[in-house]
Amino acid sequence: MEPPILTTERLVTRMAEPRDVPRVVAYFRDQQAFLAPFSPRRPPGFITEAYWHERIAQSLDDFNADRAMRLFLFDRAAGNVLGTCSFTQIERGPAQYCVLGFGLSEGHQGRGLMAEALRPAIGYAFEALEIHRIGANYMPHNRRSGRLLRRLGFVVEGYARDYLLINGRWEDHVLTSLTNPQHSRG
Ligand SMILES: CC(C)(COP(=O)(O)OP(=O)(O)OC[C@H]1O[C@@H](n2cnc3c(N)ncnc32)[C@H](O)[C@@H]1OP(=O)(O)O)[C@@H](O)C(=O)NCCC(=O)NCCS
Repeated sequence: MEPPILTTERLVTRMAEPRDVPRVVAYFRDQQAFLAPFSPRRPPGFITEAYWHERIAQSLDDFNADRAMRLFLFDRAAGNVLGTCSFTQIERGPAQYCVLGFGLSEGHQGRGLMAEALRPAIGYAFEALEIHRIGANYMPHNRRSGRLLRRLGFVVEGYARDYLLINGRWEDHVLTSLTNPQHSRG
């Protein structure tokens, strides 16, 4: 299956290619301080082109092997990276499940950009990838993330103490998910 290219009013949301490496590195370098409180600790070499050449190749392997779909939000006019949204931990069998994570540049918050990217990306996950349930988990103080998920129809399912190691600390998370009632695979 071909990876998706999702064009909306302000964005092109797609997997990164080798030609995108400088823009991907610039995004993570410029947003390092802003994203750190929401992110796992970054591996050594994270802000280097060599790391991203390898990671982009790995992401294509993961997509082809039905393990994950990692997308970047590109500014439709300027072409630079504005954010990321990733559908990972794809599980088949009776689960047909995956986990969603996302992040957006500090300078582009509060304009509806992540919802603009996620609506078609979720549609692709449900229709083309035949996912039945998308889980998305956020730290309780991350109100903006909670509001975004609620607007997209995600439903709170629980509360997990010390759920993920974020920025060096085990953090509680609110667990939410969105299911596809149209899913037909029995
Ligand atoms: C969570 C995050 C991705 C939300 O990004 P976002 O683009 O601001 O979210 P949305 O697409 O839902 O935008 C909605 C906001 O834009 C505003 N908005 C402005 N113009 C808009 C438009 N044309 N259409 C829709 N919303 C618009 C809305 O009022 C809303 O504001 P609010 O969040 O103050 O209520 C972002 O805050 C982020 O990157 N945070 C840090 C990383 C992070 O938290 N990752 C998730 C870990 S679980």
